[in-house]
Amino acid sequence: MFFIVVYILVYQLIGNLGYLKFDAAQNTVRLTLQEPTAGCNPNDVGCKDSFAPLSHLPYCCAQNSSCKTNDDGSCSCDYRPTFKDYNCTWLSGTSAAAIRESSIVVSTFLHEYTMTLNTSCFTSYPSAAPSCDELYIVQEKAQAFTADVESFTLLIDHSVTSPKSGLATTSRDMQGLLFVGPNGNDGSEASAIKAGLCSSSSDAVDAPRNGRATDKAPCYLKPNSAGGLDFFAIGTLLQAAGVSLESESYPGSGHSARYEGITINLNIDYSNSIPWHGLQANISYLYKPSVIPRSTFKTTEVTPLSLDGVHMLKKSLHGVLFEVRAGGQLAIFDFTQLLLQLTTSLTLLALATVGVNIMAQYVLRYRHYYSEALYDRTADFDNISFLERQSEDQLRQELRDRNLPQSGTRERMILRLMEYGYRPSSTASLSFRSERAALASAPDV
Ligand SMILES: *[C@@H]1O[C@H](CO)[C@@H](O)[C@H](O)[C@H]1NC(C)=O
Ligand SMILES: *[C@@H]1O[C@H](CO)[C@@H](O)[C@H](O)[C@H]1NC(C)=O
Ligand SMILES: *[C@@H]1O[C@H](CO)[C@@H](O)[C@H](O)[C@H]1NC(C)=O
Ligand SMILES: *[C@@H]1O[C@H](CO)[C@@H](O)[C@H](O)[C@H]1NC(C)=O
Repeated sequence: MFFIVVYILVYQLIGNLGYLKFDAAQNTVRLTLQEPTAGCNPNDVGCKDSFAPLSHLPYCCAQNSSCKTNDDGSCSCDYRPTFKDYNCTWLSGTSAAAIRESSIVVSTFLHEYTMTLNTSCFTSYPSAAPSCDELYIVQEKAQAFTADVESFTLLIDHSVTSPKSGLATTSRDMQGLLFVGPNGNDGSEASAIKAGLCSSSSDAVDAPRNGRATDKAPCYLKPNSAGGLDFFAIGTLLQAAGVSLESESYPGSGHSARYEGITINLNIDYSNSIPWHGLQANISYLYKPSVIPRSTFKTTEVTPLSLDGVHMLKKSLHGVLFEVRAGGQLAIFDFTQLLLQLTTSLTLLALATVGVNIMAQYVLRYRHYYSEALYDRTADFDNISFLERQSEDQLRQELRDRNLPQSGTRERMILRLMEYGYRPSSTASLSFRSERAALASAPDV
Protein backbone atom coordinates (compact mmCIF):
# COMPACT_ATOMS: atom_id res chain seq x y z
CA MET A 1 0.00 0.00 0.00
CA PHE A 2 2.77 2.36 1.01
CA PHE A 3 4.61 1.69 -2.21
CA ILE A 4 1.55 2.48 -4.27
CA VAL A 5 1.16 5.82 -2.53
CA VAL A 6 4.85 6.56 -3.05
CA TYR A 7 4.62 5.52 -6.71
CA ILE A 8 1.64 7.77 -7.32
CA LEU A 9 2.69 10.81 -5.38
CA VAL A 10 6.40 10.79 -5.94
CA TYR A 11 6.95 9.07 -9.25
CA GLN A 12 3.84 9.94 -11.27
CA LEU A 13 3.14 13.41 -9.93
CA ILE A 14 6.57 14.83 -9.19
CA GLY A 15 8.89 12.72 -11.35
CA ASN A 16 6.69 12.31 -14.40
CA LEU A 17 5.14 15.75 -14.04
CA GLY A 18 1.61 14.34 -13.83
CA TYR A 19 0.16 17.77 -13.13
CA LEU A 20 1.19 19.19 -16.54
CA LYS A 21 -0.61 19.00 -19.85
CA PHE A 22 1.70 18.28 -22.78
CA ASP A 23 1.20 19.32 -26.38
CA ALA A 24 3.39 18.61 -29.42
CA ALA A 25 5.58 21.51 -30.49
CA GLN A 26 5.25 22.94 -33.99
CA ASN A 27 7.74 25.26 -35.59
CA THR A 28 8.48 27.51 -38.51
CA VAL A 29 12.00 27.93 -39.76
CA ARG A 30 14.06 30.20 -41.98
CA LEU A 31 17.32 28.81 -43.31
CA THR A 32 20.13 30.86 -44.81
CA LEU A 33 23.39 29.60 -46.28
CA GLN A 34 26.49 31.76 -46.28
CA GLU A 35 29.94 31.21 -47.75
CA PRO A 36 32.84 31.33 -45.27
CA THR A 37 33.80 34.92 -44.53
CA ALA A 38 36.28 36.64 -42.26
CA GLY A 39 33.57 37.09 -39.62
CA CYS A 40 31.52 39.62 -41.57
CA ASN A 41 28.28 39.80 -43.52
CA PRO A 42 28.91 39.14 -47.24
CA ASN A 43 26.42 41.91 -48.09
CA ASP A 44 28.70 44.48 -46.46
CA VAL A 45 31.15 46.42 -48.62
CA GLY A 46 34.67 45.13 -48.15
CA CYS A 47 33.65 41.86 -46.51
CA LYS A 48 36.32 39.33 -47.44
CA ASP A 49 35.62 35.66 -48.05
CA SER A 50 37.84 33.09 -46.38
CA PHE A 51 37.74 30.02 -48.63
CA ALA A 52 40.37 27.37 -48.14
CA PRO A 53 42.83 27.31 -51.09
CA LEU A 54 42.20 24.55 -53.63
CA SER A 55 45.53 22.93 -52.79
CA HIS A 56 43.97 22.02 -49.39
CA LEU A 57 40.95 20.35 -51.01
CA PRO A 58 41.83 16.84 -52.21
CA TYR A 59 38.56 16.41 -54.13
CA CYS A 60 39.49 19.16 -56.60
CA CYS A 61 41.51 18.38 -59.74
CA ALA A 62 44.99 19.84 -59.51
CA GLN A 63 46.67 21.15 -62.67
CA ASN A 64 49.84 19.16 -62.20
CA SER A 65 51.27 15.74 -62.83
CA SER A 66 49.39 14.21 -59.84
CA CYS A 67 46.15 14.21 -61.80
CA LYS A 68 45.32 12.84 -65.24
CA THR A 69 42.20 13.94 -67.04
CA ASN A 70 39.51 11.41 -68.03
CA ASP A 71 37.23 11.64 -71.07
CA ASP A 72 34.11 12.32 -68.97
CA GLY A 73 35.53 15.56 -67.57
CA SER A 74 36.69 14.02 -64.32
CA CYS A 75 40.26 13.38 -63.34
CA SER A 76 42.03 10.70 -61.39
CA CYS A 77 44.47 11.99 -58.84
CA ASP A 78 46.97 9.88 -56.96
CA TYR A 79 46.33 11.78 -53.71
CA ARG A 80 42.66 10.65 -53.70
CA PRO A 81 42.64 7.22 -55.32
CA THR A 82 39.22 6.02 -54.05
CA PHE A 83 37.02 8.38 -56.05
CA LYS A 84 37.24 10.51 -59.19
CA ASP A 85 38.04 14.19 -58.73
CA TYR A 86 36.33 17.05 -60.54
CA ASN A 87 37.16 20.68 -61.12
CA CYS A 88 36.06 22.85 -58.25
CA THR A 89 34.11 26.08 -58.38
CA TRP A 90 33.67 29.01 -56.01
CA LEU A 91 30.06 29.61 -55.07
CA SER A 92 28.38 32.19 -52.89
CA GLY A 93 25.99 31.01 -50.20
CA THR A 94 22.99 32.13 -52.21
CA SER A 95 23.94 30.31 -55.40
CA ALA A 96 24.94 27.12 -53.58
CA ALA A 97 21.57 26.87 -51.83
CA ALA A 98 18.10 25.81 -52.89
CA ILE A 99 15.71 26.83 -50.15
CA ARG A 100 12.26 25.39 -49.55
CA GLU A 101 9.71 25.89 -46.80
CA SER A 102 11.47 23.96 -44.06
CA SER A 103 14.49 22.53 -45.83
CA ILE A 104 17.59 23.64 -47.66
CA VAL A 105 19.78 21.92 -50.23
CA VAL A 106 23.45 22.78 -49.88
CA SER A 107 24.92 22.03 -53.26
CA THR A 108 28.12 19.99 -53.18
CA PHE A 109 28.27 18.96 -56.84
CA LEU A 110 26.91 20.92 -59.76
CA HIS A 111 26.10 19.50 -63.17
CA GLU A 112 25.18 22.04 -65.85
CA TYR A 113 23.66 21.36 -69.27
CA THR A 114 22.46 23.63 -72.04
CA MET A 115 19.24 22.54 -73.69
CA THR A 116 18.24 23.74 -77.11
CA LEU A 117 14.79 23.11 -78.50
CA ASN A 118 14.88 21.06 -81.72
CA THR A 119 12.96 23.32 -84.14
CA SER A 120 12.31 20.39 -86.52
CA CYS A 121 9.87 19.08 -83.89
CA PHE A 122 7.50 22.00 -84.56
CA THR A 123 5.73 23.18 -87.71
CA SER A 124 5.64 26.65 -86.20
CA TYR A 125 6.38 26.90 -82.47
CA PRO A 126 4.48 25.81 -80.36
CA SER A 127 2.46 23.70 -82.86
CA ALA A 128 3.95 20.19 -82.93
CA ALA A 129 5.26 18.49 -86.03
CA PRO A 130 3.78 15.01 -86.74
CA SER A 131 6.68 13.27 -85.00
CA CYS A 132 9.69 14.11 -82.86
CA ASP A 133 12.81 12.05 -82.21
CA GLU A 134 14.58 14.36 -79.85
CA LEU A 135 12.86 17.38 -78.38
CA TYR A 136 15.86 18.97 -76.72
CA ILE A 137 19.40 18.82 -77.87
CA VAL A 138 21.32 18.54 -74.61
CA GLN A 139 24.93 19.50 -74.25
CA GLU A 140 26.97 19.06 -71.14
CA LYS A 141 28.38 22.37 -70.07
CA ALA A 142 30.19 21.90 -66.80
CA GLN A 143 30.48 19.76 -63.73
CA ALA A 144 32.17 20.90 -60.59
CA PHE A 145 32.43 20.35 -56.87
CA THR A 146 31.62 23.29 -54.61
CA ALA A 147 34.95 24.32 -53.16
CA ASP A 148 35.21 24.17 -49.35
CA VAL A 149 31.50 23.48 -48.80
CA GLU A 150 32.14 22.22 -45.26
CA SER A 151 33.11 25.76 -44.21
CA PHE A 152 29.84 27.30 -45.40
CA THR A 153 27.56 28.26 -42.53
CA LEU A 154 23.88 27.52 -42.09
CA LEU A 155 21.84 30.05 -40.10
CA ILE A 156 18.75 28.61 -38.45
CA ASP A 157 16.09 31.12 -37.41
CA HIS A 158 13.13 29.27 -35.93
CA SER A 159 10.13 29.80 -33.72
CA VAL A 160 8.01 27.35 -31.80
CA THR A 161 4.31 27.25 -31.00
CA SER A 162 1.97 24.78 -29.41
CA PRO A 163 -1.59 25.81 -30.17
CA LYS A 164 -3.27 24.11 -27.21
CA SER A 165 -1.07 25.75 -24.60
CA GLY A 166 -0.87 29.13 -26.32
CA LEU A 167 2.92 29.25 -26.03
CA ALA A 168 4.91 30.89 -28.84
CA THR A 169 8.56 31.95 -28.82
CA THR A 170 11.27 32.73 -31.37
CA SER A 171 14.78 31.32 -31.19
CA ARG A 172 16.10 34.74 -30.14
CA ASP A 173 14.38 34.22 -26.78
CA MET A 174 15.42 30.61 -26.33
CA GLN A 175 18.63 28.76 -25.60
CA GLY A 176 19.62 25.63 -27.43
CA LEU A 177 22.46 23.17 -27.96
CA LEU A 178 23.60 20.80 -30.68
CA PHE A 179 23.39 17.18 -29.58
CA VAL A 180 26.23 14.93 -30.72
CA GLY A 181 25.55 11.34 -29.77
CA PRO A 182 24.18 7.95 -30.70
CA ASN A 183 20.86 7.77 -32.56
CA GLY A 184 20.28 4.05 -32.77
CA ASN A 185 21.70 3.00 -36.14
CA ASP A 186 25.27 4.30 -35.91
CA GLY A 187 28.03 2.18 -37.37
CA SER A 188 31.58 2.30 -36.08
CA GLU A 189 32.50 4.97 -38.63
CA ALA A 190 29.66 7.26 -37.51
CA SER A 191 30.55 6.80 -33.84
CA ALA A 192 34.16 7.67 -34.57
CA ILE A 193 33.15 10.86 -36.44
CA LYS A 194 30.92 11.96 -33.54
CA ALA A 195 33.59 11.18 -30.96
CA GLY A 196 36.03 13.21 -33.06
CA LEU A 197 33.73 16.23 -33.01
CA CYS A 198 33.30 16.03 -29.22
CA SER A 199 37.03 15.76 -28.58
CA SER A 200 37.92 18.60 -30.98
CA SER A 201 35.36 21.06 -29.57
CA SER A 202 36.62 23.00 -26.58
CA ASP A 203 33.12 23.96 -25.36
CA ALA A 204 31.64 20.44 -25.38
CA VAL A 205 29.63 19.59 -22.25
CA ASP A 206 28.14 16.27 -21.14
CA ALA A 207 24.59 17.40 -20.28
CA PRO A 208 22.17 20.05 -21.56
CA ARG A 209 21.80 21.54 -18.06
CA ASN A 210 24.72 22.18 -15.72
CA GLY A 211 26.91 19.97 -17.90
CA ARG A 212 30.61 19.50 -17.25
CA ALA A 213 33.29 19.86 -19.91
CA THR A 214 33.89 16.62 -21.77
CA ASP A 215 35.84 15.31 -24.73
CA LYS A 216 33.79 12.17 -25.30
CA ALA A 217 30.53 11.45 -27.08
CA PRO A 218 27.70 12.02 -26.34
CA CYS A 219 28.27 15.72 -25.93
CA TYR A 220 26.39 19.00 -26.36
CA LEU A 221 27.82 21.95 -28.30
CA LYS A 222 26.88 25.60 -28.14
CA PRO A 223 25.81 27.06 -31.50
CA ASN A 224 27.59 30.09 -32.95
CA SER A 225 25.49 33.18 -32.56
CA ALA A 226 24.84 36.10 -34.93
CA GLY A 227 22.40 38.71 -33.70
CA GLY A 228 20.80 36.18 -31.33
CA LEU A 229 20.36 33.57 -34.07
CA ASP A 230 22.16 30.24 -34.25
CA PHE A 231 24.47 29.18 -37.02
CA PHE A 232 26.68 26.15 -37.62
CA ALA A 233 29.35 25.25 -40.12
CA ILE A 234 28.02 22.63 -42.56
CA GLY A 235 30.99 20.45 -41.58
CA THR A 236 29.95 20.55 -37.92
CA LEU A 237 26.38 19.52 -38.72
CA LEU A 238 27.65 16.66 -40.89
CA GLN A 239 29.96 15.48 -38.15
CA ALA A 240 27.16 15.70 -35.57
CA ALA A 241 25.11 13.44 -37.86
CA GLY A 242 28.10 11.07 -38.09
CA VAL A 243 28.73 11.41 -41.83
CA SER A 244 31.56 12.56 -44.03
CA LEU A 245 31.16 13.71 -47.63
CA GLU A 246 34.32 11.77 -48.37
CA SER A 247 32.85 8.32 -47.67
CA GLU A 248 31.17 6.14 -50.28
CA SER A 249 27.59 7.20 -50.94
CA TYR A 250 25.95 3.77 -51.06
CA PRO A 251 27.49 0.33 -51.63
CA GLY A 252 28.37 0.00 -55.31
CA SER A 253 27.96 3.68 -56.16
CA GLY A 254 31.68 4.20 -56.80
CA HIS A 255 31.23 7.82 -55.87
CA SER A 256 31.53 9.81 -52.69
CA ALA A 257 28.57 11.34 -50.85
CA ARG A 258 29.93 14.67 -52.09
CA TYR A 259 29.08 13.57 -55.65
CA GLU A 260 25.72 11.86 -54.97
CA GLY A 261 24.30 14.06 -52.25
CA ILE A 262 22.85 12.99 -48.92
CA THR A 263 19.69 13.53 -46.85
CA ILE A 264 19.85 14.72 -43.25
CA ASN A 265 16.97 15.26 -40.85
CA LEU A 266 17.54 18.12 -38.46
CA ASN A 267 15.17 17.61 -35.58
CA ILE A 268 14.72 20.47 -33.14
CA ASP A 269 13.48 19.07 -29.83
CA TYR A 270 11.73 21.73 -27.77
CA SER A 271 11.00 21.42 -24.09
CA ASN A 272 9.97 23.59 -21.16
CA SER A 273 9.80 21.02 -18.40
CA ILE A 274 12.28 18.69 -16.73
CA PRO A 275 11.36 15.49 -14.88
CA TRP A 276 11.68 16.01 -11.09
CA HIS A 277 12.23 19.76 -11.62
CA GLY A 278 8.89 20.82 -13.08
CA LEU A 279 8.09 23.71 -15.40
CA GLN A 280 10.93 25.93 -16.58
CA ALA A 281 10.69 29.67 -17.15
CA ASN A 282 12.22 29.49 -20.63
CA ILE A 283 11.78 27.08 -23.52
CA SER A 284 14.99 25.34 -24.55
CA TYR A 285 15.79 23.14 -27.53
CA LEU A 286 18.25 20.59 -28.83
CA TYR A 287 19.33 20.26 -32.47
CA LYS A 288 19.47 16.55 -33.30
CA PRO A 289 20.78 15.88 -36.81
CA SER A 290 20.51 12.36 -38.15
CA VAL A 291 21.39 10.99 -41.55
CA ILE A 292 19.26 8.70 -43.67
CA PRO A 293 21.75 5.91 -44.43
CA ARG A 294 22.64 5.28 -48.10
CA SER A 295 20.48 8.23 -49.18
CA THR A 296 21.28 10.50 -52.11
CA PHE A 297 19.85 13.86 -53.01
CA LYS A 298 19.54 15.94 -56.13
CA THR A 299 17.37 18.80 -57.25
CA THR A 300 17.05 20.33 -60.71
CA GLU A 301 16.60 23.94 -61.73
CA VAL A 302 15.89 25.12 -65.27
CA THR A 303 16.40 28.73 -66.32
CA PRO A 304 15.74 30.14 -69.79
CA LEU A 305 18.77 31.49 -71.60
CA SER A 306 16.81 33.24 -74.35
CA LEU A 307 13.50 35.06 -74.35
CA ASP A 308 11.81 32.70 -76.82
CA GLY A 309 12.53 29.69 -74.57
CA VAL A 310 14.58 27.92 -77.22
CA HIS A 311 17.77 27.92 -75.14
CA MET A 312 17.68 26.73 -71.55
CA LEU A 313 20.21 26.13 -68.82
CA LYS A 314 19.59 23.08 -66.67
CA LYS A 315 21.35 22.79 -63.35
CA SER A 316 21.43 19.56 -61.38
CA LEU A 317 22.37 20.32 -57.81
CA HIS A 318 23.57 17.29 -55.87
CA GLY A 319 23.98 18.13 -52.26
CA VAL A 320 23.09 17.87 -48.63
CA LEU A 321 19.40 18.19 -47.93
CA PHE A 322 18.73 19.48 -44.41
CA GLU A 323 15.11 18.81 -43.57
CA VAL A 324 14.13 20.67 -40.38
CA ARG A 325 11.41 19.21 -38.19
CA ALA A 326 9.97 20.13 -34.82
CA GLY A 327 10.03 17.59 -32.02
CA GLY A 328 9.39 17.54 -28.31
CA GLN A 329 6.47 18.75 -26.26
CA LEU A 330 5.59 21.95 -24.46
CA ALA A 331 3.77 21.80 -21.16
CA ILE A 332 1.48 24.02 -19.11
CA PHE A 333 0.09 23.53 -15.62
CA ASP A 334 -3.37 22.01 -15.78
CA PHE A 335 -5.64 21.49 -12.79
CA THR A 336 -7.89 19.02 -14.65
CA GLN A 337 -4.82 16.94 -15.49
CA LEU A 338 -3.77 16.94 -11.85
CA LEU A 339 -7.25 15.85 -10.79
CA LEU A 340 -7.31 13.14 -13.44
CA GLN A 341 -3.95 11.86 -12.26
CA LEU A 342 -5.13 11.77 -8.64
CA THR A 343 -8.38 10.00 -9.58
CA THR A 344 -6.46 7.39 -11.52
CA SER A 345 -4.20 6.95 -8.53
CA LEU A 346 -7.09 6.52 -6.13
CA THR A 347 -8.64 3.92 -8.40
CA LEU A 348 -5.34 2.07 -8.37
CA LEU A 349 -5.28 2.23 -4.60
CA ALA A 350 -8.85 0.90 -4.35
CA LEU A 351 -8.03 -1.92 -6.76
CA ALA A 352 -5.01 -2.86 -4.70
CA THR A 353 -7.13 -3.02 -1.54
CA VAL A 354 -9.69 -5.25 -3.23
CA GLY A 355 -6.86 -7.45 -4.52
CA VAL A 356 -5.33 -7.86 -1.07
CA ASN A 357 -8.71 -8.70 0.47
CA ILE A 358 -9.44 -11.34 -2.14
CA MET A 359 -6.04 -12.92 -1.59
CA ALA A 360 -6.50 -12.93 2.17
CA GLN A 361 -10.01 -14.37 2.15
CA TYR A 362 -9.95 -16.91 -0.64
CA VAL A 363 -6.40 -17.80 -1.59
CA LEU A 364 -3.90 -17.75 1.25
CA ARG A 365 -3.34 -20.64 3.63
CA TYR A 366 -4.66 -18.90 6.77
CA ARG A 367 -7.53 -17.34 4.87
CA HIS A 368 -10.13 -18.28 7.48
CA TYR A 369 -8.26 -16.37 10.16
CA TYR A 370 -7.67 -13.45 7.84
CA SER A 371 -11.30 -13.09 6.96
CA GLU A 372 -12.22 -13.21 10.64
CA ALA A 373 -9.68 -10.50 11.30
CA LEU A 374 -10.73 -8.43 8.29
CA TYR A 375 -14.34 -8.25 9.37
CA ASP A 376 -14.09 -7.01 12.91
CA ARG A 377 -17.47 -7.71 14.50
CA THR A 378 -18.61 -4.61 16.31
CA ALA A 379 -20.02 -4.90 19.79
CA ASP A 380 -23.68 -5.29 20.46
CA PHE A 381 -25.04 -1.77 20.73
CA ASP A 382 -28.32 -2.85 22.36
CA ASN A 383 -27.33 -1.78 25.81
CA ILE A 384 -25.75 1.52 24.96
CA SER A 385 -28.60 3.64 26.29
CA PHE A 386 -28.54 1.71 29.57
CA LEU A 387 -24.81 2.16 30.01
CA GLU A 388 -25.03 5.83 29.06
CA ARG A 389 -27.25 6.41 32.07
CA GLN A 390 -24.72 4.95 34.53
CA SER A 391 -22.34 7.19 36.41
CA GLU A 392 -18.63 7.00 35.82
CA ASP A 393 -18.01 5.28 39.14
CA GLN A 394 -20.56 2.60 38.34
CA LEU A 395 -18.88 1.99 35.02
CA ARG A 396 -15.50 1.65 36.70
CA GLN A 397 -17.01 -0.85 39.13
CA GLU A 398 -18.43 -2.92 36.27
CA LEU A 399 -15.02 -2.96 34.62
CA ARG A 400 -13.27 -3.93 37.83
CA ASP A 401 -15.72 -6.83 38.32
CA ARG A 402 -14.78 -8.19 34.94
CA ASN A 403 -11.02 -7.71 35.41
CA LEU A 404 -10.95 -5.14 32.64
CA PRO A 405 -8.73 -2.05 32.58
CA GLN A 406 -10.48 1.10 33.80
CA SER A 407 -8.48 3.68 31.84
CA GLY A 408 -9.69 6.04 29.13
CA THR A 409 -12.67 8.23 28.56
CA ARG A 410 -16.22 7.39 29.50
CA GLU A 411 -16.99 6.36 25.90
CA ARG A 412 -13.98 4.05 25.80
CA MET A 413 -15.10 2.38 29.01
CA ILE A 414 -18.63 1.86 27.68
CA LEU A 415 -17.24 0.39 24.44
CA ARG A 416 -14.97 -1.92 26.40
CA LEU A 417 -17.89 -3.21 28.38
CA MET A 418 -19.94 -3.78 25.23
CA GLU A 419 -17.07 -5.60 23.52
CA TYR A 420 -16.86 -7.86 26.53
CA GLY A 421 -20.50 -8.71 25.87
CA TYR A 422 -22.00 -6.81 28.75
CA ARG A 423 -25.61 -7.43 29.60
CA PRO A 424 -27.41 -5.75 32.45
CA SER A 425 -28.74 -8.58 34.63
CA SER A 426 -31.46 -6.34 36.03
CA THR A 427 -31.81 -2.89 37.52
CA ALA A 428 -32.20 -4.47 40.93
CA SER A 429 -28.98 -6.36 40.86
CA LEU A 430 -27.13 -3.26 39.78
CA SER A 431 -28.50 -1.25 42.64
CA PHE A 432 -27.84 -4.17 44.94
CA ARG A 433 -24.32 -4.22 43.77
CA SER A 434 -23.89 -0.52 44.34
CA GLU A 435 -25.25 -1.02 47.85
CA ARG A 436 -22.73 -3.76 48.36
CA ALA A 437 -20.04 -1.44 47.09
CA ALA A 438 -21.18 1.17 49.56
CA LEU A 439 -21.01 -1.42 52.35
CA ALA A 440 -17.58 -2.51 51.28
CA SER A 441 -16.26 0.98 51.44
CA ALA A 442 -17.92 1.67 54.81
CA PRO A 443 -15.75 1.27 57.92
CA ASP A 444 -16.14 -2.00 59.86
CA VAL A 445 -18.65 -1.91 62.64
C1 LIG B 1 49.65 18.71 -57.28
O1 LIG B 1 48.84 19.61 -56.50
C2 LIG B 1 48.32 19.04 -55.30
C3 LIG B 1 47.46 20.07 -54.61
O2 LIG B 1 47.07 21.09 -55.39
C4 LIG B 1 49.44 18.60 -54.39
O3 LIG B 1 48.92 17.98 -53.24
C5 LIG B 1 50.32 17.61 -55.13
O4 LIG B 1 51.42 17.28 -54.31
C6 LIG B 1 50.81 18.20 -56.43
N1 LIG B 1 51.54 17.19 -57.14
C7 LIG B 1 52.73 17.45 -57.70
C8 LIG B 1 53.35 16.28 -58.39
O5 LIG B 1 53.21 18.53 -57.63
C1 LIG C 1 38.97 21.78 -65.49
O1 LIG C 1 39.76 22.94 -65.42
C2 LIG C 1 40.81 23.02 -66.37
C3 LIG C 1 41.56 24.32 -66.16
O2 LIG C 1 41.39 24.85 -64.92
C4 LIG C 1 40.20 23.00 -67.77
O3 LIG C 1 41.24 22.97 -68.71
C5 LIG C 1 39.36 21.74 -67.92
O4 LIG C 1 38.73 21.73 -69.19
C6 LIG C 1 38.33 21.69 -66.87
N1 LIG C 1 37.58 20.47 -66.99
C7 LIG C 1 36.23 20.47 -67.20
C8 LIG C 1 35.58 19.14 -67.35
O5 LIG C 1 35.59 21.51 -67.24
C1 LIG D 1 15.38 17.20 -84.47
O1 LIG D 1 14.15 16.53 -84.67
C2 LIG D 1 14.07 15.86 -85.93
C3 LIG D 1 12.65 15.35 -86.09
O2 LIG D 1 12.20 14.66 -84.97
C4 LIG D 1 15.10 14.78 -85.97
O3 LIG D 1 15.05 14.09 -87.20
C5 LIG D 1 16.48 15.34 -85.78
O4 LIG D 1 17.47 14.35 -85.67
C6 LIG D 1 16.53 16.19 -84.51
N1 LIG D 1 17.81 16.89 -84.43
C7 LIG D 1 18.72 16.66 -83.52
C8 LIG D 1 19.95 17.47 -83.56
O5 LIG D 1 18.55 15.80 -82.65
C1 LIG E 1 15.03 33.27 -19.51
O1 LIG E 1 15.39 34.05 -20.64
C2 LIG E 1 15.64 35.41 -20.34
C3 LIG E 1 15.88 36.13 -21.66
O2 LIG E 1 16.45 35.29 -22.61
C4 LIG E 1 16.83 35.50 -19.41
O3 LIG E 1 17.09 36.85 -19.09
C5 LIG E 1 16.53 34.72 -18.15
O4 LIG E 1 17.66 34.70 -17.31
C6 LIG E 1 16.14 33.28 -18.48
N1 LIG E 1 15.69 32.62 -17.28
C7 LIG E 1 16.19 31.45 -16.88
C8 LIG E 1 15.64 30.89 -15.62
O5 LIG E 1 17.03 30.87 -17.52
